[in-house]
Amino acid sequence: MRLFEPLKLKNGVVIKNRFMKAAMSEIMGDHSHRPTPKLINLYKNWADGGVGLMITGNVMIDSRALGEIGNIVIENHHNLSLLKQWAMSGNSNGAQTWVQLNHPGRQSPKIVSKQPLAPSAVPLEGPNAFAFNPPRAMTISEIHNVIGRFARSALIVKEAGFAGVEIHAAHGYLLDQFLSPRTNRRNDQYGGSLENRMRIIGEIYFAIRKKVGSNFPVAIKINSEDYQAGGFSESDSLKVIQRLSEYGIDLIEISGGDYESPAMESTSSGPFFIDYAKKAKQLVSAPLSLTGGFRTVSGMEKALENSETEMIGLARPFALNPKLPNQIKNGKIKNINVEHLSTGINMLDKKMGSYIGLSYYEMLMNRIAKNKVIKPTKNAWIPLAFALRTQGISSFLPNRG
Ligand SMILES: Cc1cc2nc3c(=O)[nH]c(=O)nc-3n(C[C@H](O)[C@H](O)[C@H](O)COP(=O)(O)O)c2cc1C
Repeated sequence: MRLFEPLKLKNGVVIKNRFMKAAMSEIMGDHSHRPTPKLINLYKNWADGGVGLMITGNVMIDSRALGEIGNIVIENHHNLSLLKQWAMSGNSNGAQTWVQLNHPGRQSPKIVSKQPLAPSAVPLEGPNAFAFNPPRAMTISEIHNVIGRFARSALIVKEAGFAGVEIHAAHGYLLDQFLSPRTNRRNDQYGGSLENRMRIIGEIYFAIRKKVGSNFPVAIKINSEDYQAGGFSESDSLKVIQRLSEYGIDLIEISGGDYESPAMESTSSGPFFIDYAKKAKQLVSAPLSLTGGFRTVSGMEKALENSETEMIGLARPFALNPKLPNQIKNGKIKNINVEHLSTGINMLDKKMGSYIGLSYYEMLMNRIAKNKVIKPTKNAWIPLAFALRTQGISSFLPNRG
């Protein structure tokens, strides 16, 4: 099977197979934003399941800018020994773990940010907006600070022994906010033309590269588009990845959507962004990892066979089954069911759909971390009770992913 062929990156790094566990925010950091034994064991269990590459849930580069309570933050060397333990479990059994670095920008919820930073002072809209305070436009020196922080965090990630880093530029977070003309209304060198809107990403990439060298994998997760009128368009996105490929980025992960329009959370069967991947393939030499909606082994094989992607990104399926690659290898699994959960009350499902979904997968990751068996359910009250028990009422905020 093509899924079990190794992938050699341009810098010589070899990923043992084509399975990539995509980032899922684990919410397993302690009060000081450090990895906990639970988190470390979760990665050990995933590695044991045969996965080739794991991208961690988003790790913040600044403790003043959290995406949610329970995030890990890497901003100095204080927690190096715990990070080393996490890296070791994530790189066991021949797997590789790359750390996803993120700044949430305006998608930092009220509970953690009085006034989040963003490219421009454009508040969120839509059903999730109530959870976020309006942001303030960043100064040039704040932009430079963020660039420096991404680079410093990446170096610490390397020193801790992780196998790579991924820059999170998708899902409506800070770097995606810079890319989108809806959220970036700046009229300096970081706003306006696409060249200017993507400037911060280029500068972060080169700042990281300078710190980690050419042999350490640096990836990016980017939206194929934002699904918003006047937002980050597919044609802009294709131009950005073309440029990043020319710069020498090691892997491009394709996703889509944000908190105003969460395409990445769909429970329909995909792959969601395959048409984009087909176009991207014509333009870039960097390998792609297509994430979102892969639910059949035949679909994964087909995408690899048609050279539409090099890696198969899977998030929810890995929370439902940490042993997925090994079980696919021995023929035990052909399809993955990612169910739509329901409370039985239509209005509640509509209002809380996003929240229910995320809580469910957090609950499942929690079980894997504790070596417990996974019992899939369609009953939304079970993850809701879990969220209340573990995080209290404050957890009822759509602030993940
Ligand atoms: C609980 C949960 C947390 C997530 N956290 C992140 C995250 O931290 N960073 C990220 O880039 N994507 C995050 N995602 C999105 C996934 O990486 C992925 O893009 C999405 O779930 C679609 O893939 P799937 O259909 O295989 O689940 C999260 C998804 C879930 C379900």
